[in-house]
Amino acid sequence: MDSKVINILGFAGSLRQKSYNRALLRNCLELLPPDTTLEIFELDGIPPFNQDIESVLPQTVVEFKQKIKAADALLIVTPEYNYSVPGVLKNAMDWASRPAGNNSFQRKNAAIMSVSTGMLGGSRAQYHLRQIFVCLDIYPVNKPEVFVNFAGQKFDAQGKFTDEPGREMIRVLLKALVARVRIAADS
Ligand code: FNR
Repeated sequence: MDSKVINILGFAGSLRQKSYNRALLRNCLELLPPDTTLEIFELDGIPPFNQDIESVLPQTVVEFKQKIKAADALLIVTPEYNYSVPGVLKNAMDWASRPAGNNSFQRKNAAIMSVSTGMLGGSRAQYHLRQIFVCLDIYPVNKPEVFVNFAGQKFDAQGKFTDEPGREMIRVLLKALVARVRIAADS
């Protein structure tokens, strides 16, 4: 399936307007391999999970689930909050995993990146996210691991990620994600 366009759905685990993670996700639009698109889904409208209302899902959740199912692959870019994933991200993923028997993530290939203002670049959140992937049956790309640390020094005023070695690592990660999708489709 070499000529097929691969459609990636990306979402970020921060709602902050000037979020570094949101900015990094937008930067990925320029770092995609050939024949690949990236659609960004904003998690802002997703309400707190409540099992009482999961039999009639909120419209934003319906849309999120449809976009996940339709995507060839996922790209998650997240901050680390208190050594784990932000509640906003976990909440959205909990919704998309429901109702029971209708997990939208099943068998999706996914790449992860994280941005932090600290030294470790969100690594602890990524490993928690990988644990969540096991439950949701998401197949993560393992390498390269993209941890963007000291974010304050790596973005310009327009939100461009200016760290060239980091940009190259992202190109490699996205290439690996797309290659995985193409191999899976051929087998
Ligand atoms: C943080 N931050 C943070 N950073 C980190 O490396 N490890 C951590 O455990 C935490 N914990 C944490 C908790 C909470 C509630 C906040 C608000 C922040 C700092 C974090 O890296 C920084 O605020 C980033 O800028 C958040 O990402 P966005 O919003 O810029 O994408």
